[in-house]
Amino acid sequence: MKKLFFLSSMTLAAALTANADVIALADMDLSYITCLSGEAVHKNQSTKGTDLAIRGKVYGGVGTHAPSKCIVRLNGASEFHTLLGITDSAESPSQKANHGIAEYTVTLHKNHETEVRATGTISRDDAAPVEVNLTNLAGYEYLELDFATGTQPWADHCAWADARFTYSGTAPATCSGLYTEPAAPIVQLPTTGPNGEQIVPLSSLDISLIQNGWRTPQANKSIEQNTLTINGQRYASGVGIHAPAKAVVKLNGSATHFHCEIGIDDEAGERASANFVVKVRNTSGAERSIASAELHRMNSAVVVDCDIQAGDKYLIIEVGDLNDTNEADHVDLANAYFHFVFQNSNPPELVSPDVLSSTLNCATVLFSQPGVRFMHRLHSNNPDATFSVNNLPAGLTYNERRHLVEGIIKQEGQYTYNVLTSIPGEDPVSTPISLTVSSHLQQPTPFMGWISWNTIEGEISDDVVRKACDGMISSGLFDAGYTVICMDDLWHAPSRAADGKPQANATRFPNGIKPLADYVHSRGMKLGIYSDAAGRTCAGAYGSYGSETIDANTYAEWGIDILKYDYCFAPTDRASTITRYTTMGNALKASGRDIIFYGCEWGQNSPWEWAAQAGCSTWRVTLDVRDCWEARSPGVGVIQSLAQVKDLWPYSGVNRFNDADMLCVGINGKGKSSSDLCVGTPGMTKTEYRTQFALWCMWGSPLGLSFDVRNPISATDLAIMTNREMIDINQDKMGQAAEWIGVDANGCNLLVKDLENGDVAVAVVNMSNNTQSYVIDFNQIAALDPTATYAVRDVQRCEDMNNAIGSISIPSIAKHETKVYRLSKGTTSIVETLAAKSLDNVITEVNDSNVTVKFPGTDGASKRVILSDTLGRVFGSATTTDTQVTFPTPSSDLIVVNVVCAGRSISKVIRR
Ligand code: GAL
Repeated sequence: MKKLFFLSSMTLAAALTANADVIALADMDLSYITCLSGEAVHKNQSTKGTDLAIRGKVYGGVGTHAPSKCIVRLNGASEFHTLLGITDSAESPSQKANHGIAEYTVTLHKNHETEVRATGTISRDDAAPVEVNLTNLAGYEYLELDFATGTQPWADHCAWADARFTYSGTAPATCSGLYTEPAAPIVQLPTTGPNGEQIVPLSSLDISLIQNGWRTPQANKSIEQNTLTINGQRYASGVGIHAPAKAVVKLNGSATHFHCEIGIDDEAGERASANFVVKVRNTSGAERSIASAELHRMNSAVVVDCDIQAGDKYLIIEVGDLNDTNEADHVDLANAYFHFVFQNSNPPELVSPDVLSSTLNCATVLFSQPGVRFMHRLHSNNPDATFSVNNLPAGLTYNERRHLVEGIIKQEGQYTYNVLTSIPGEDPVSTPISLTVSSHLQQPTPFMGWISWNTIEGEISDDVVRKACDGMISSGLFDAGYTVICMDDLWHAPSRAADGKPQANATRFPNGIKPLADYVHSRGMKLGIYSDAAGRTCAGAYGSYGSETIDANTYAEWGIDILKYDYCFAPTDRASTITRYTTMGNALKASGRDIIFYGCEWGQNSPWEWAAQAGCSTWRVTLDVRDCWEARSPGVGVIQSLAQVKDLWPYSGVNRFNDADMLCVGINGKGKSSSDLCVGTPGMTKTEYRTQFALWCMWGSPLGLSFDVRNPISATDLAIMTNREMIDINQDKMGQAAEWIGVDANGCNLLVKDLENGDVAVAVVNMSNNTQSYVIDFNQIAALDPTATYAVRDVQRCEDMNNAIGSISIPSIAKHETKVYRLSKGTTSIVETLAAKSLDNVITEVNDSNVTVKFPGTDGASKRVILSDTLGRVFGSATTTDTQVTFPTPSSDLIVVNVVCAGRSISKVIRR
């Protein structure tokens, strides 16, 4: 039988005359071909799923993304032909530095010896593909095709176009590696233990709880969903994971034995290596090591087989990346199972590894402002934990029912109290809590502004920053609170100045940064800059590693107000990460200027646990946001943002905000890298942009807009960005992040946020693709009193709803829509309802000595008033039933007045 595919008539004629068969590479099993993580290998298409076109000509063949490798067992094939090129889906290096270039190698293997037959570089700028024709292949065992990245793996969309083999007899076939043995029989799980114990396979437990370095753990498959195979040995059962990984099994007193065969799966690339430790922790916290070893590709599995003893509480499997990169570290926990003997106890279960990390899984370094309500929510990932608190400073109390410390401290100062966490069967652990109460915090409320990256990238310039400033003012965004303009990557000159100081690109910033900062300040705004904790930034400019002091001092001289500090090209371990951020944090402190330190290591080393101590007041918790509802890994659409941010609420607070990255409203699919990695076309519906905005507000994430300020902005987009009542939830002075309460069977997620004046914001996010109804049940929400009456404000629409007792019924929430309600307890009186309506009439008067806030029509209704600067630093607060209140005039030029009454919140920016 002849297999012909995309062959020229010449080749077909040749093949027929020689009475040989021809097989196209595209018709072989492409699952053996490896390519850059997160990218795809496609038959007859580019890696991006578009036509396999090179310079406008469409071919058959295989599209891939460098680095990529394909090994073919030749089985006696006689000839091979291919064309090598970069597909038209990629940008060219002449358009974008380092894009669309790759190195190719074509190698033959025989008797464990290699012969490179073709090697060189291909570029998207090449006029034509490179042709490779190999004849006389008899005697060679394998052909290896490789694409390596140039300097960067950016847009290296490669093709083996028109790739085909001529053979007679057995067809050549792709395979997982060189000189691999034919598959051995598959190892099956035992059916019972030696004494009749029940078998509980590891893969039958909730493997989503395994902490995993890349993709998601797979039951009974490798991480790339192939049959579990270690050095040719195949296994029916087990879990495919990727280093670094951690699995914790709670033994529940009924598991008696554990067995597992650990190794690197044959599907992994050559650079795969890992190490592992299996240990057991008993109820008193003592640990016993069971086994540990290094793992290398094509080594046999390491067998772990141990009895479990009385008092053993957790079995812990830790897999490391052997201190290299975690590239290709596909590890199999093959043939892994427990013996289980029923003793009125549950079978073993996988639990979150967080149960081990700390008994207290919440912020322990906190901040507050004098006179402003403070809240510290205690949380342990261990559901059995209970807390008590001692040594509380005056003004704070412990709310035992809700596990929170709350109150108001009037005096600035440094305070400490202790939380005692108890877990049954273990010694209680005491954790000291540090609380700084200050009127000079870096970032009392999440910063609001504009960041250049998503739409501007390398075009950032003096002109763009001025346009951003002017645009924010003319559009009303400034009045809504957006006051920071942050230049992201690539503002730099090609190198530092001769004296080592950083300097800006001379063409795009002809006058340098200082005059630009002066301009930004003259418009009442703040200027941000970007650097990286390594020798280079993510896009290749010079970084700050080793130059922290000179950089911080220069930023201070220039008048910079915020530094976004990225983490590309820096060591990935936690200790180095902490050290590098601390070094810059200290340098900024020593610079003498108040500069907000904005960490950006994408949540890789849990910055919420240490970045406040390193001097940051906000830190990124995800990889780069994409302008779409759902992104392909490793991109982050709204779906991924929710998954990654929802459980981080215990770590947010005043001056310590989890940053979910830039907002995409206004980009509408026209961003730069923010438009990559989208499932479907980039861009979102207005409903989806509203949901993204609502989530960021509920989480207290900084609000960094990122649309293209050079173009006009639509009224609808502007309305989303300036929803005053939504912004007030984001800017709430108590700095809480919404707790994620859960998700129902229809995909509706419930989030709840405590607000400074005692109100509670409740959001319902419909993540499903259908319209849903939902009932908010106050019994599910500890912040609410199910017996009390609440005034309800629809925050998306800025409209009052009916008062609620016990629940709110929402008849319809559209696909991907988010409803947000602000609930105020006990405000059913006509006085309060009228007062809330009258808030539109608030009058502010300012002179050299006093700021007076008047609220006509609100006599007798309770109002909370807070005066702050644009970063949220509070000058004064008051709760009053009068119709006016007076504060001493603060020194700031711009004063934000926020008044809350019966669930409605009004803010005004006034100039002195
Ligand atoms: C990424 C960062 C982005 C942007 C970019 C610039 O690492 O997450 O937000 O700053 O680098 O190169």
